Amino acid sequence: MNFKGSHILSVNQFDREAIERVFNVAHQMLPYAKREKRTTVLNGAILGNLFFEPSTRTRVSFGTAFNLLGGEVRETTGLSNSALAKGESLYDTARVLSGYSDIIAMRHPDIGSVAEFAEGSRIPVINGGDGANEHPTQALLDLYTIQKELQAHGSNIDGMHIAMIGDLKHGRTVHSLSKLLCLFKNIRFTLISPKELAMPSSIIDVIENAGHQYTISQQFEGNVDADICYQTRIQEERFSTQDEANLYRGKFRLNQQIYTQHFQSKTVIMHPLPRDSRAEANELDNDLNLNPNLAIFRQTDNGVLVRMALFALTLGVESIVSQFDQKVHWHVNS
Ligand code: CP
Repeated sequence: MNFKGSHILSVNQFDREAIERVFNVAHQMLPYAKREKRTTVLNGAILGNLFFEPSTRTRVSFGTAFNLLGGEVRETTGLSNSALAKGESLYDTARVLSGYSDIIAMRHPDIGSVAEFAEGSRIPVINGGDGANEHPTQALLDLYTIQKELQAHGSNIDGMHIAMIGDLKHGRTVHSLSKLLCLFKNIRFTLISPKELAMPSSIIDVIENAGHQYTISQQFEGNVDADICYQTRIQEERFSTQDEANLYRGKFRLNQQIYTQHFQSKTVIMHPLPRDSRAEANELDNDLNLNPNLAIFRQTDNGVLVRMALFALTLGVESIVSQFDQKVHWHVNS
């Protein structure tokens, strides 16, 4: 895969070699993310950070990643605050904004919208999530986290068993992550969801065609001997009514008691976040917060590393980052 100058729109662009390249560069970014040193390699570069749908992690970590490489960030948030609300096309918006920036990260509620935008862009565009379709940078950071967590337990991605739980129909993170996992060997998928919110057949086809095993279930059953438990939120913003979403909220709560009953003591708990902590949902209970296998905040930290790596690769500076090292002069909490 040639990263330099390329859009990152879908996990379909990645093979194992490309993933390894991203992970190697991400690993090199750790001292910068930990503020042990800083770099000005992207001094003068501008990220256009366009988020037309709510976000905390993805938007801020894209911006943080770009700042940590020495670049500047210009943001647009919310459809109603942009000229898209006046009927401007994605193509025109892209032509205009690609004259203002060096690279663009974008989230939009419509499937295929980021790819449509990229057609009008003269600079690289990174997909920060397009409707229920894909979230490629989340999938890469999830996979990076899985690799690190499994390595800490003396195993690796090949041969692993992942349980994906919740709204597998609308959850773009599980779609993208499943596709990336299919590049590895002998993966077992346990897919737990209400039957109305099951994993789309297009993703099941990818799993089947890659020769992996999967089971589909509508509840936690017995001992799920998974290495990874990947919990998701009911994506209420994708339902036609709140009442319809409410039918499913709270159906798959995970707390310490349920975890102990159904998972191994070493099963790593992941969630793309945000977790819905309201009482009627509470899909990932706070009583798991001190469980050492809860990896959700290691995931969010890893998101900065992976997004730094993608910026460095697409802007072609990955091999010269350390040539622009500077000291950190302020107090840093360890
Ligand atoms: N995981 C994720 O995409 O979170 P945000 O919606 O906060 O960006």
